[in-house]
This record gives sequence, structure tokens and C-alpha cells, in this order.
Amino acid sequence: MTDTRDQYMLGLDLGTTGAKAGVIDREGRVLGTAAAGYPTETPRPGWAEQDPALWWEASCRAIRGALSASAIAAESIAGVGVSGQMHGSVFLDGSYGVVRPCILWCDQRTGPECTLIEERVGRENLAGLVGNPALPGFTAPKVLWLARNEPESFERVRSLLLPKDYINLMLTGATMTEVSDASGTLLFDVAGRRWSEPILEALQIPVEWLPPVIESAQPAGRVTAGVAHATGLAEGTVVAGGGADNACSALGMGVLEPGRVAVSIGSSGTVLAPTATPIVDERMRLHSFCHARPDTWYLMGVMLSAGLSLRWLRDVLGEPERGGAEALGRDPYELLDETAALAPAGCEGLVFLPYLTGERTPHADPDARGVLFGLDLTKGRHHVVRSVLEGVVYGLLDSLSLMLEMGVPVTTVLSGGGGARSSLWRRIQADAFGMPVTVAGNPDAAMLGAGLLGGVAAGLFESVDEACAHAVHGGETIEPDPAARPAYDRAYGVYRALYPALHEIYRM
Ligand code: XUL
Repeated sequence: MTDTRDQYMLGLDLGTTGAKAGVIDREGRVLGTAAAGYPTETPRPGWAEQDPALWWEASCRAIRGALSASAIAAESIAGVGVSGQMHGSVFLDGSYGVVRPCILWCDQRTGPECTLIEERVGRENLAGLVGNPALPGFTAPKVLWLARNEPESFERVRSLLLPKDYINLMLTGATMTEVSDASGTLLFDVAGRRWSEPILEALQIPVEWLPPVIESAQPAGRVTAGVAHATGLAEGTVVAGGGADNACSALGMGVLEPGRVAVSIGSSGTVLAPTATPIVDERMRLHSFCHARPDTWYLMGVMLSAGLSLRWLRDVLGEPERGGAEALGRDPYELLDETAALAPAGCEGLVFLPYLTGERTPHADPDARGVLFGLDLTKGRHHVVRSVLEGVVYGLLDSLSLMLEMGVPVTTVLSGGGGARSSLWRRIQADAFGMPVTVAGNPDAAMLGAGLLGGVAAGLFESVDEACAHAVHGGETIEPDPAARPAYDRAYGVYRALYPALHEIYRM
């Protein structure tokens, strides 16, 4: 009989709305999953915070649930990998107690601190030092915000972690981070894959606050006896460095090398293109981060409200679909898809700008807001629903177009994240991009990618490449329909023209 002990991995994705865990075998088959949610607090408009204690509770529930759904014994899990929402600031005191709620990636409060960083460092120096501009979502401005706005909390801080690193701390007892998540702090020399001393000095952030940095697939530690009970994992199970959700998701779609591009619709929307060297967009509209694979970087465009726009629509205007879904035992998003399908491609001129929480790429603007343009008496609910799906795709197309302009190779587009579950959204992507789009074999690509990092750290695979070659499979490819192209080209033209026209109005 083959010995199947230690042949499995557990991936955990610490997302914006909840944690999802899955037990995965060497072929990438998911044997059991479980998810648990947590709320986002909005103490003021534009703010977004979460309590790390709730992440941990949800993670424990998800891990226990996945183990039990898979019926795989904890002792057979060789390695665990965690992927997480990027940029959040987990401020810890000297005993690793949480000082205040985490300020999330989509929080927009730190505009003034970004200006301060540009003054102290020089906007032109940021590209060379950290490869990225000072943007409100990133971690460094949050540290300055705390110093300026909550000095008592700031006085108590002794370490700074990213969200998934807090889960790793709870699992292993050790503070640690890895290159892909460290990249989003604005404190990291992305090209050199190490903390940036000049930036830390300029911003007066003590280097002792920051954890050691490893590569994503290296082991970060082992599950301690203390948490084995809470999680259901076996003491001593290897925990990988893990990775930023976008990097893990790219691994889970097999996007490791230049040419392959990952388009993901989660709460945020991202377009990610690996590069063999650290490339910086000279206008820094695209982020430049380390990939969760050694000696690899990526360029990425980020929309702040992609899935979040559809969620907003479901909550605010989706009463018929929510009610219908409850009565029929179906998913409200499926019914929203059906409603949207009643309107034609291009929505007969109705265009939605998905800037519900400001925007990052290509318009780094915390003041931008959502717009429905082109309403007239012929437009119905179905137009509105479809325009939201289309507007998100136009935002993704903005990032893809920037990459093409920069000469970044785009040979294969992979589509993943929760948005890839919608057949209409997948079709709109292929038609509006005018390119074939291959659907990720596993829509929970971040969870899969994280699990594979756990597998590599535990020695189940020799490298990230080997793990992905073995366990990542592509799904259906959707060919673009040339007949839809003129309608999308027209609507995308209007979309592109709207932001510049509104730029000043957003500041009124
Ligand atoms: C990336 C970003 C988002 C979060 C969402 O820069 O801010 O994609 O990682 O989880």
C-alpha cells in the first residue's frame, strides 16, 4: 500500500471579507474547504478596519472545518501556507498584543501622510528606493498616521506585521514576513528583496519593528502545541512564509513567468504580469512587487472596488435577486448575472465608473467616486446591473492597456477570483479585452497557491515551479466574439473620457 502520510497541504486565504481554508493533495485536488467571515468596520467614511482577533477566530474555524470536510488526518498535512490581503497594518506591543484594529488596504485616510512621505523622501526617489509611489492603501503612511493621530497607541508599538503574518505568528509563535507581502509596505527595497534602510531612516520607523524577511516558500516555523488544539492542526506541522493574496493567486493560476497574465476579481480587481527583473513603470501607475517565486517580480494594476462594486449593487439595488435567491435556494449573484444578461453588450451607452472607494490604477485618487453615466428613459435595472459588470472590466482593461503600452508581453490571460465564477463576467472579459481568456482551474487560486507554498516549505516539492507544474490546471478558454467588439470599444471610449472630465469635480 502506498504511504499517503504527509502528502497533503493546507492553504488558508485571509481575504477581505473572510478566511477560506482548503486541504489540497499533490495533484492540486481540493479535498475539503471551509470558510468563515468577519466584519469590516467603517468608523468614518473612507476608513476600513478589522480586528485581528476575529481573523484568528475565523482562521481557526476555517482550518478545522476544512480538515473535517476533507477527512484527512491532521498528521497527514505536511505543510501549511497562508495568503493574505495586502498592506494592512497590524500594530503589536512588546508582548505581541494588538495595539489597535488593523487599518486595511482599502482605507483612504492617509492622503496627508502620503504627501509627507513624498516631502521627506522625494517622489522621484521612491521609484529607486521602493519601486512604488506613496499611496494611501500602503502600510508606511499608516504608521505615520498613527504617530500623528493616535500618539498613545504609537508609543506602545514594538512590531509591525502584515495581516497573514499575524496568522503565522499565532500559528508558530514567531514574527516573520516574506518578500511578496513586504513589497506592499513601501518600506521594502523591492529590487533588492530586503528592508529599505534609507526609507526607514527618512520616515523614522525603527528597523526593530520589522520582522525578518524570507522567500515565500521557505519555512517560517512550525505549528506550536498551544494552537494545535484551536486549529486542529498537528503540532510541528511546517508553516511556509506564505504570500500576498495576489502573488499566491498568480501561483494558483500558474502565472509564474513573463507572458502569462493573471486577472482576478475579488473585493479588489487586479491585473498581474510577472517580470524576470524588477521593472518600474516610470509614472508608477502600476505597482512593482516581488513575486512569491525566487528571482521573479511582477507589475500589477489594482482597482479598489471590483467585486466590491457588485456586492454594493447586490446590497443596495439587488432586493429582487436577494429575495429570489432565498426563495429558490440559489446564489443572488447568479440571479444578478441573469438580470445583466437581459441588456446587450455595451449596455446601450450606460457606463459605470467603479470608483466607489477611490481608485489606484490608473488614477491614484482617493477622492474619485462611482458614476452611472448615460441614463435615459429606456434604461432599466438590467442595464444598471450589466453596466457594473462592464465598468469593472473596463477598469481591468485600463491596467492591461498600460502593460501593453509598456511593452510587457501578454500572451495568455488567466481569469480567477470570485468574479471568474460568473460566466457572463468571464465572457465580458474576453470580449472587451479582445483576447482569449482562460479560466483558472480552481477559482480559489490564492488558497491553492498558498497551500503549494506550504508544500514546498515542507519538502513535498522541490520548488514553486515543480509544485505549480504538478498541481495547477487551467480551465475553459473563452474566445472573444468579434461581433461584440464595436459596442465595447464605444463604451470603453466613454469610460476613458469620463475620469479626466470629472477629475476637478471630484475635488469640489
Ligand atoms: C493589492 C491590494 C489588494 C489587496 C486585496 O495591492 O491592495 O489586492 O491585496 O486583498
